[in-house]
Amino acid sequence: MSLIDWHEEYSVGIASVDHEHREMINLINAVYDNLSSNASKDQIEAFLGEIYTKISAHFALEEKIMKAKAYDEYEGHKEDHERLLDEIRDIMDFYETDDYFSDKDLADQLERWFSEHFRTRDARLHKHLG
Ligand SMILES: [Fe+2]
Ligand SMILES: [Fe+2]
Repeated sequence: MSLIDWHEEYSVGIASVDHEHREMINLINAVYDNLSSNASKDQIEAFLGEIYTKISAHFALEEKIMKAKAYDEYEGHKEDHERLLDEIRDIMDFYETDDYFSDKDLADQLERWFSEHFRTRDARLHKHLG
């Protein structure tokens, strides 16, 4: 079962961005599958590290495109990226150190963490560039 499903309306109309969004959804879903199949804490942590690396690269790509197109909400969008990176670091720290942080909490937080930005900031970007 997937935590997040891809829908066509998520497309921002820029192939490289859409490709990375799909990849990110797949990674988050893979973490979720691993949680349900009782993967070790180390494996989950490695996956979270991979998500962090991929998402940092993705944000850099989006910021480059927004800058090149003189996108009017560049600053706010970039700030939201920075906030999200801080948050995923917090989620990773919690998962690593807090024994009471359940797998369900992790799944919920990942879903909320990614989907919100995706459905608001990135969707607006889509409307302006698409
Ligand atoms: Fe974004
Ligand atoms: Fe994005």
